[in-house]
Amino acid sequence: MTRPLLIAGAGIAGLWAALHAAPRKVILLTGSKLGENASTGWAQGGVAAALAEDDSAALHAQDTLEAGAGLVNAEAARLLAAAGADEIRALDALGAKFERDADGRWALSREAAHSRHRVARMKGDQAGAGILAALIAAARAAPHIEIRESWRAESLLSATDGGCAGILARRPDGRLEPVEADETILALGSLCGLYGVTTVPFTSQGKALVMAARLGAVIEDPEFVQFHPTAIDVGRDPAPLATEALRGEGAILIDAKGHRFMRQVHRDAELAPRDVVARAVHRQVRSGRGAFLDCTGAVGAAFPDHFPAVFTACMEAGIDPRTTPIPVAPAAHYHMGGIATNLDGFTGVAGLYAVGECASTGVHGANRLASNSLLDGLVFGRRAALACRTSTRRAGPALTAEPGRDLPPLALKRLRQMMAREAGVERDRAGLMRAASLIDELEARHGACDALVSARFVVHGALARDESRGGHFRTDFPATKAHGVHTRLTLDALCDVC
Ligand code: SIN
Repeated sequence: MTRPLLIAGAGIAGLWAALHAAPRKVILLTGSKLGENASTGWAQGGVAAALAEDDSAALHAQDTLEAGAGLVNAEAARLLAAAGADEIRALDALGAKFERDADGRWALSREAAHSRHRVARMKGDQAGAGILAALIAAARAAPHIEIRESWRAESLLSATDGGCAGILARRPDGRLEPVEADETILALGSLCGLYGVTTVPFTSQGKALVMAARLGAVIEDPEFVQFHPTAIDVGRDPAPLATEALRGEGAILIDAKGHRFMRQVHRDAELAPRDVVARAVHRQVRSGRGAFLDCTGAVGAAFPDHFPAVFTACMEAGIDPRTTPIPVAPAAHYHMGGIATNLDGFTGVAGLYAVGECASTGVHGANRLASNSLLDGLVFGRRAALACRTSTRRAGPALTAEPGRDLPPLALKRLRQMMAREAGVERDRAGLMRAASLIDELEARHGACDALVSARFVVHGALARDESRGGHFRTDFPATKAHGVHTRLTLDALCDVC
């Protein structure tokens, strides 16, 4: 008899995969209550898809390729863009109601580096929360899905044939339990919680990468971390976001004296690619000139209706964005790199798949195009589920496994500060070596904790890439090489070098 498909992670990619695995049974593990700690719920802008009359999947794919700075897998971009409109319709039919205009056409926002209005939105700036709620309701109602809440994935079970035989999980009562499976899909999200200020739940620390690497999977392009240029800078971590759609509406970036600084940096000014805007904002903040998102002219009194989540976050911090520019700074937002997979999410380790932010299909290259992330979760989550639905693999018996190791809170704080300082928006060899030394020191004291191993992947990838490209900027190597190559690391290679 076919055993259930095992999925770890309940953001958009994990839930969409679970829903599309039917009629195969699914066991869905989530380390918290369903809906908590999923970056999906925090996404503001929406889902990119070629829905407008003047748009096409080919244009969307082209924009994805250009934003990705020479490292996008063209076939992945083609698949992503081609599936966009159908995925929006499928979500809408499920109850995730996207906004429409008075004539019933999709209401679409513009975001940076998109050549068209292309971002389907929900309740202004609450697309992520709306989509997550609809997916959770559907998953709870689906008879083929068994949801195990507060079951934390600790490590992968290896099979006697060297493949994956499931997950060693920590149950809500704290006990460890092996959950055996012939196919396992990891959908555990980001590693941006390794950074001192992030826009995602800080529990996202790259655990999936470490689990997969320990079973022999390749980690691709880990140095490509995307920093969102306009996190609201009011001393909070995680930081609330001021969605890029605000700049699509015409909001401008100014310094403390009111000077609009992006016009000198790029011809598309505030709508330049995200990495360009993030670096410009970073330099403003670092130099003491300050960076503010001025929405007073472009949005003004419409703020509470059009951008309720940003409005609430600002008002809670004592800033009325209808009349006052919002202080902003970059914060770690998205990981382009991850577990290397093919276009069905297969990692090359028998029985192991990865989807969503923890995976690297190469679709985002060196710099993800805004609002392609939720679409990535949908398209590649569905493809992995379909591949697993028909799989006939039988994993050999599971071998014993060790649980992952947590870094104590004070050590984690030091690591996060160091990553933000030395492996952040701008990096150089000396700073990256300081980060590597701290990782060595913490590892000597606390062992090979998961957060240290995932941080080591980022630092080593950043050291190895002696150029600047997309989200990775080396001040000691500011030029981009003529030919982009992917970084591909295994755990063995990592241990040899660092
Ligand atoms: C935003 O709303 O600015 C974030 C969208 C994204 O990260 O794709």
